[in-house]
Amino acid sequence: MRRMFNIYNNNMSQESKLLTIQNCREDIIGELDAIIQYANHYYATEDLVTRATILDIMEEEKLHVGQLFGLLFSLDPTSKTQFEEGIKEFEELKDKMK
Ligand SMILES: [Fe+2]
Repeated sequence: MRRMFNIYNNNMSQESKLLTIQNCREDIIGELDAIIQYANHYYATEDLVTRATILDIMEEEKLHVGQLFGLLFSLDPTSKTQFEEGIKEFEELKDKMK
């Protein structure tokens, strides 16, 4: 019987976990690429129905980015710590520029 891959399996081997983390990062890139493409297509048309459709899809892709970061952070808590530290450093720099 074929074994199903289960990301919630706490008994995942270290190698499998690392592969899943890397796949998650690639999937984030894919979602960001999709957002860029939809934005380009949004601005390439003046048709309002097309724009509304593309905008709706593009917003959904942003949600997917959030879901994937949630997954990444659960698999690699250090990524979450560094991500939050990066936001904090950005906010500090932004405040200094005011
Ligand atoms: Fe997506």
